[in-house]
Amino acid sequence: MSLTFSGQVALVTGGAAGIGRATALAFANEGLKVVVSDVDANGGQGTVELIRGAGGEATFVPCDVTQEAQVKALMEATLDAYGRLDYAFNNAGIEIEQGKLADGNEAEFDAIIGVNVKGVWLCMKHQIPLLLAQGGGAIVNTASVAGLGAAPKMSIYAASKHAVIGLTKSAAVEYAKKKIRVNAVCPAVIDTDMFRRAYESDPKKGEFAAAMHPVGRIGKVEEIATAVLYLCCDNAAFTTGHALAVDGGATAI
Ligand SMILES: NC(=O)c1ccc[n+]([C@@H]2O[C@H](COP(=O)([O-])OP(=O)(O)OC[C@H]3O[C@@H](n4cnc5c(N)ncnc54)[C@H](O)[C@@H]3O)[C@@H](O)[C@H]2O)c1
Repeated sequence: MSLTFSGQVALVTGGAAGIGRATALAFANEGLKVVVSDVDANGGQGTVELIRGAGGEATFVPCDVTQEAQVKALMEATLDAYGRLDYAFNNAGIEIEQGKLADGNEAEFDAIIGVNVKGVWLCMKHQIPLLLAQGGGAIVNTASVAGLGAAPKMSIYAASKHAVIGLTKSAAVEYAKKKIRVNAVCPAVIDTDMFRRAYESDPKKGEFAAAMHPVGRIGKVEEIATAVLYLCCDNAAFTTGHALAVDGGATAI
C-alpha cells in the first residue's frame, strides 16, 4: 500500500537541516510543493536546491518562529507562492545543554520555551485559519521522547516538548470536526547536528545514546520523515491527537 496525498502544498519549519530537511525532501519526493522555512537562510536555500536538483518544486521563506509578525508573513508567503497550505510540519526547535534543574537559568528557559513552545503555538495559530478556509489539512508538530517522560539534565527541554504534546492534543480535539488533524512525532536520539552538538564532544556519550535504544542504534532523519508523511497522508485520516514515538523502542522499556 502506498501513501496517498490529496493535498498539494507542505510547509516545513526548521527545514534548513536535520529532520526538517529530510522531511522537506520526502514531501517533495511525493510530488508536493514545499515551502522550506528557517532562520538559517543558507541551509534553507540548500534544502530548496536539493529538492529542485531532484526535479521537485520548493521555495525558501525565512522566518524566526518566535516572532509573530514573521510567522504571519510566512503563511502569507506560502499562499503567494502556491495558493494554499495542506500540510504543516512545525519542527523548528532548539536544545541547549543543561545541567540539573536547580542549575538552570532564566535565559535558557526563555530561549527553549520561546522556540519550542511559543514557536509551535504561533505557527498553528496562523496555519489553522488557512486550513479552515480550505476545509481541512494536517499539522504535525515535532515533540520528542522528552515530551513523553523524564529527561534528566534536560528538564526545560522536556517541559517544552510536553507542552508541544499538550498544544497538539488540544488543537486536535478543537478542530477534529473541521477536518484538521493535528499530531506530534516524538523522536528519540536522531543523527542530526543537534545530536552531534550534544554528544560528539565525548565519544562515550555517543555509545550511551545508542545503548538507550533497544534496537542498539540512534535513529536516522529519514525514519522521522517517513512518520511525518504517514501522519499527514490520507491513509491516516482516523489518526489525530496522537503523539507517535519513533524511538527504536526507547519508551517501551
Ligand atoms: N536530533 C534529535 O535527536 C532530536 C530528538 C528529538 C526531537 N528533536 C527535535 O527535532 C526538531 C529538529 O531538530 P534537528 O535534530 O533536526 O536539529 P537541527 O538543529 O539540525 O535543526 C533544527 C532547525 O531549526 C532551526 N531553528 C532554530 N531556531 C529557530 C527559530 N527560532 N525559527 C526558525 N527556525 C529555527 C535551526 O536553524 C535548524 O535548521 C527539533 O524540534 C528538535 O527538538 C530532535
